[in-house]
Amino acid sequence: MHMSHGSTAVIAEISAGLLAPAAHISPKFLYDGLGSKLFEAICELPEYYPTRTEAAIFAAHGAEIARVVGDGATLIDLGAGNCAKAGSLFPLLHPAQYVPVDISREFLLGAVAQLQQRFPHIEMTALGLDFSSGFTLPDSVRKAHRVFFYPGSSIGNFTPEQAVSFLRGLRANRGSDGGLLIGVDLVKDHEVLDAAYDDPLGVTAAFNLNLLRHVNHLAGADFDVAQWKHIAYFDFERSRIEMHVEARCALTVHWNGGERRFERGERIHTENSYKYTRQSFATLLERAGFATTRTWTDDDQWFAVIHARAIPD
Ligand code: AVI
Repeated sequence: MHMSHGSTAVIAEISAGLLAPAAHISPKFLYDGLGSKLFEAICELPEYYPTRTEAAIFAAHGAEIARVVGDGATLIDLGAGNCAKAGSLFPLLHPAQYVPVDISREFLLGAVAQLQQRFPHIEMTALGLDFSSGFTLPDSVRKAHRVFFYPGSSIGNFTPEQAVSFLRGLRANRGSDGGLLIGVDLVKDHEVLDAAYDDPLGVTAAFNLNLLRHVNHLAGADFDVAQWKHIAYFDFERSRIEMHVEARCALTVHWNGGERRFERGERIHTENSYKYTRQSFATLLERAGFATTRTWTDDDQWFAVIHARAIPD
C-alpha cells in the first residue's frame, strides 16, 4: 500500500464513499496539480462550449452587464483561481474593492499581486478559504454593494438542494445589499452535452481518471488507472451530466483502513454537472431568496449569465 498524504478526515471521507453501496468520490478530488491543468485543457477543447460561450456573452454584453451591476461594487469572486475572468471585467465594472476567494491561497496571492499592479486604485483583499462548505466574510470586506461573482457554471456541480443552501449562505453574507452575477449552463441537445464531457481526444477521460491517482496519493489507495474507464452521459430525468469511472475487470482496491471488490462494469460516481433552463434556475434563485434581474445568453441559448438581487427580509 502507498503512503497516504491526506488528513484523517479526508481519508475517512474517501473511505466512506468507496464503501457506500453506490460508490462515489467527491468531485473536489479532481483538482490536484495535474487535474487543474487538465481542466484548463478541457476549457480549450472545441467540444467544451461553456467557457468559450460564457466569455462570448461577457464580450458581447459587458457594458450592459456593468450598468446592471453598477459602479463601485465590492466584487467577491468565488473560486477566483488566476483572477483572469474578473480582471478582464474591471475596465467595465470599476469595482471599489475586489475580494477573490479560493481554496488554494498561495496561487491566489500570486495572481492578486500581479492584478494589483495593473489596477492600483482597486482595493484588493484575497481570502484563502473553501467557500463551498459555508463561510462568513471578515470585516475587511466592505458591507456596501456586495456582488458575488460565480462564473463558469460551477453552481452545476452542486445538487439543486446544495445549490440552494450555498446561495442562501451568500445571501446571509450580503452586507447592506447583495447582488449575484452567475454563469449557468443550460439544457440543450444531449449530443452536444455528451461530446462536451466525453471528447474524442480523451482529455475529459484523463481528467476523470486522474482522480484515481489523486486518491492513491491521498488515501494510500492502489487504484490501477488502466483497469478503469471514463463514462459520462446526460441523464434527462435529473437534468445532469453524470461522470463515473467503470471497472474494466473484476478487481479489488485497497486503501488505508479499507478495501473493496468491484465487479467488471461496476462504477464509482465522480461528478454531476446540472443543466438548468432559465425558468428552473430562476426558481432555484427564488428558493434561495434572490430575484433575477437580468439574463444574458448566446444566440443558441447554450449558456446564461444571470444577475440577481438578494430579496431583503
Ligand atoms: C468546473 N465545472 C463547472 C466543470 C463542469 O463542466 O461541470 C467540471 C468538468 N467536468 C468535466 N468537464 C468539466
